Amino acid sequence: MKVSLAEVFSLWLKVIFCYLESLYHVVVPHPRQDVRGKKVLITGAGHGIGRELSLEFARLGASLILWDINKENNEGTADEVRHIGATVHTYICDVTSTDDVHNTADRVRREVGNVDILVNNAGILYGGPVLDMQEKHIRRTFEVNTLAHFWTVREFLPAMLEADSGIIVNISSGTAKSGTAFLVDYSSSKYAVFGFTEALREEIDRLGKPGVQTTVVCPSFVDTGLCKYPKDRFNPILTPKETALGTIDGMLRGENVVYVPRRLGVLVRLGALMPETLKPLLKQFSQIGIDPQYDVKQD
Ligand SMILES: NC(=O)c1ccc[n+]([C@@H]2O[C@H](COP(=O)([O-])OP(=O)(O)OC[C@H]3O[C@@H](n4cnc5c(N)ncnc54)[C@H](O)[C@@H]3O)[C@@H](O)[C@H]2O)c1
Repeated sequence: MKVSLAEVFSLWLKVIFCYLESLYHVVVPHPRQDVRGKKVLITGAGHGIGRELSLEFARLGASLILWDINKENNEGTADEVRHIGATVHTYICDVTSTDDVHNTADRVRREVGNVDILVNNAGILYGGPVLDMQEKHIRRTFEVNTLAHFWTVREFLPAMLEADSGIIVNISSGTAKSGTAFLVDYSSSKYAVFGFTEALREEIDRLGKPGVQTTVVCPSFVDTGLCKYPKDRFNPILTPKETALGTIDGMLRGENVVYVPRRLGVLVRLGALMPETLKPLLKQFSQIGIDPQYDVKQD
């Protein structure tokens, strides 16, 4: 296929425009979308980041649909959401089960209606040396952290496409941008979430539905207990609230990729330009990573 000079020229103009536009938005961020009255479904809402996301969305006036496998914790989050004054519906759902996801999604559509924002947040982490990992733990990690995204998106995307409106937020991880020792299962499941979201973004664009937004979120380590022994010499471990605020701010400004903290995104971009031999040296210097988690979840 021949490429004309006019096409090359037009592409260059677009390249220059994209650079100038993104530089402009570093100084003047996009305005935040309003979520008052929007229906927000959050998986893994019973604890940690999911719980804080629920509370922040409630403060912004959204109505919440909370999914978790843990009934008690999910109801605990719901009580706090009600206390803030927001509407809330709770559902017990194991996101790894296609039947459970399908039946619960049906109930949501009947009882609440179509979802405006879907946040795929539920996640697990076993970790440890790759040669000591149990097969069932590796499989479960991918079931919860990666495959579940297919099941929820296949339930809620059709109505979003129909309305050409909606947001799908997938919580990935900083370990999706830099493979991490003793987290080979987790890190690779989160790389897959990043790829899933990128591919989905392109597919939605190709379907001509600019009103449906996707956002993948990569937080560094967060103090929720999920990761037992995180280490980072230069960055403090994030609180769940800081992570929720960073996530919501980025997604409401229409960003496709959100790093929390934001400077992590700068490091990832710089890293892409570095020689491969330099990366391990810098990781060693910053001591970022985890110790093997021998003492947890060996059942
Ligand atoms: N904590 C971190 O350091 C960190 C860093 C980056 C990204 N993340 C990601 O953020 C997300 C939330 O992590 P967190 O630290 O808040 O974890 P958390 O353990 O505090 O909470 C996870 C929630 O998911 C629920 N859950 C687990 N399996 C489920 C299933 N099969 N079905 C439905 N719900 C299920 C749990 O019951 C729990 O309420 C995860 O995707 C995690 O990978 C966490």
